[in-house]
This record gives sequence, structure tokens and C-alpha cells, in this order.
Amino acid sequence: MNSGFRDRLNIKIAEVEAVVREYSPKPMTEETLLCEAMNYSLLAGGKRLRPLLMLETYRFLGGSKEELVRPFAAALEMIHTYSLIHDDLPAMDNDDLRRGKPTNHKVYGEAVAILAGDGLLNLAAETVSKDFVHCETIDEYKRVGMAISALFSYSGADGMIGGQILDMLSEEGKKEKNEDFFLAMYDLKTGGLIKAAFVIGAILAGESGEEIASMERTGTSLGLVFQLQDDLLDIKGDEAKLGKPLHSDERNNKLTYLKLLGEAKALEIMEANYKSIYKNLENICHKNCSYDGFILEFLEYLKSRES
Ligand code: IPE
Ligand code: IPE
Ligand code: MG
Ligand code: MG
Ligand code: MG
Repeated sequence: MNSGFRDRLNIKIAEVEAVVREYSPKPMTEETLLCEAMNYSLLAGGKRLRPLLMLETYRFLGGSKEELVRPFAAALEMIHTYSLIHDDLPAMDNDDLRRGKPTNHKVYGEAVAILAGDGLLNLAAETVSKDFVHCETIDEYKRVGMAISALFSYSGADGMIGGQILDMLSEEGKKEKNEDFFLAMYDLKTGGLIKAAFVIGAILAGESGEEIASMERTGTSLGLVFQLQDDLLDIKGDEAKLGKPLHSDERNNKLTYLKLLGEAKALEIMEANYKSIYKNLENICHKNCSYDGFILEFLEYLKSRES
């Protein structure tokens, strides 16, 4: 990785960290355990992929009122973090390590971990509903309303949660599975929040119609690539770099799309999806010539991610 890109990436990640911290839970009562458990996972780092993509999408589509998008970026990371806390629970993937630290339930117990996840989901809703205070025009009110609806639709039963239930049904032997099953599952469980990042960035920047549809397709493609990489890293990654345990899928008897395809075919599919991602973004990018192009460099960097 060239050092210029590494420096720019560090600056962008630090910006996202500041956004997440700004909206992070603050103790409101003498009882601080829940707040501590929520922050334990939310402030544990992670790649911050989704808020970064949302902010960059907003910028490269010419958005310039950042206070409108920042609460959504923080809320998306809260929802993602809650999904990880719940995903690691014994009733789901039963994992002990996340973001390089013991999982939430290992430290606080299952009951508190469930509530910490719930708390982050509620805080996400509260955070974005307060965003209306930044609206100055009817058009901005409409955009924020649409963005709220998109956030909870992509993360709900027709989105990430819907994908997680399919994942729970994907244990080997439980149900007949084909490519369509996995494409649908990955588009929901992982694509859901990635689509939310691209689409909300676009909505708040004032896009509509074909541009939004194109950003949604971009999210579907990146979601698929990202989850196939995740499946591959689960087998071949380095636990110290990943910050989560290897072989979780095998231990849980999960039949992944990677396993169905085999590595060679999966790599072909990933490459083809990367091509459509770039094509979509390049078609739309001409709108803001002053944009620094970081989103394209960032996507290139993600191709060889190790964590
Ligand atoms: C993990 O997401 C869950 C998947 C959808 C594969 P990330 O790999 O983005 O996790 P963090 O946020 O960096 O910890
Ligand atoms: C999880 O997929 C996707 C979520 C919505 C949390 P995985 O179960 O493969 O994610 P990791 O590998 O635990 O991060
Ligand atoms: Mg899982
Ligand atoms: Mg998991
Ligand atoms: Mg995984």
C-alpha cells in the first residue's frame, strides 16, 4: 500500500472515529453498566467501513452539509455493532473474540450483551430522528425522512435481520440450498448495511431515481464481495489481524457460498462484481469533479483486505 494512501486512510478513519464518538452512548443515570457494555463494542475499533462509505458517497456526489450525514454514519455503525454483538452470542455463532477483544457476552454475560445490542439499535433510531434539527428546507426534511426509512429497511427484517435468519437456516443438512439462496442471503445479511451506506449517502446528497438504484446495485455487489472475502478469511486469515476467531463457519456447520462455489469460482465472481462497482461509480462520479477520488482508492484497498 502506498504511504500517501495510508496517510489519507488514517485521516479518514480518525474522522469517522470522531463521528462515532460524538454520538456514542453517554451515561444518563447512576446505572452505567449498560452504557459501558454498549461502548465496549462500539468504541472497539473495527474497520468503520460502512460509515466511511456513507460519508465518502455523500462527498463524491457533491454533498456539502456534513452535519446532515454525520448522525446517519454514526447510527449505521451502531446498528452494525449491535448486529455483531448478537451474531457472536451462543445462540447464534457462539464466538469469543471480536475486534481483537473478548466478545460482549464473554465480558458482560448474555443478558447484558442482548440489552447492549438493543440499546445500540434504539440509540441509532434516536440519533437519526434528531437529525431533523439540521434541516432548513422542505427538501432537506424529505431527504432525512427518506434516509431514516432506508436505514431501518436495509437493517430490518427485509434487510440485515432477514439475512441473519437465512444464515441461521444455512447449516448443512437443514435445507436444500442453491446459488440463489446464497445470493439472497448475502445481499441481505451483509449487503443490507452496505447498501444503506451507499444509498443514504446518495439520498442525503440529493440524488434520486436511477442514481439511487445504481448505488443500491453497488451495495449489492460490494456486499457479495465483502462476505465472500469474510468466508475466505474465516478459513485462511490470520486471527491476530482479523481480531475474530478462524473457522467459525466450520464449527457452526455453516454451508457458505464460498464452499458451494469453491475458491477459484468465488474469486472470478468477486472480480466481476468489482468491475461493476467501478463502472457504477465512474458513471456517477463526473458530477463532482472536485472530489478527491478517495472512495475508488479505498475500494481498491479493500480488495486485498486481511481484516
Ligand atoms: C463483519 O463486518 C461482519 C460481516 C458482515 C462480514 P466487518 O468485517 O466490517 O467488521 P468490523 O466492523 O471491521 O469489526
Ligand atoms: C455476519 O456474518 C453478518 C452480520 C450481519 C453480523 P458472519 O457471521 O460471517 O460475520 P463474522 O464472520 O462473525 O464477522
Ligand atoms: Mg453469523
Ligand atoms: Mg459470525
Ligand atoms: Mg464470517
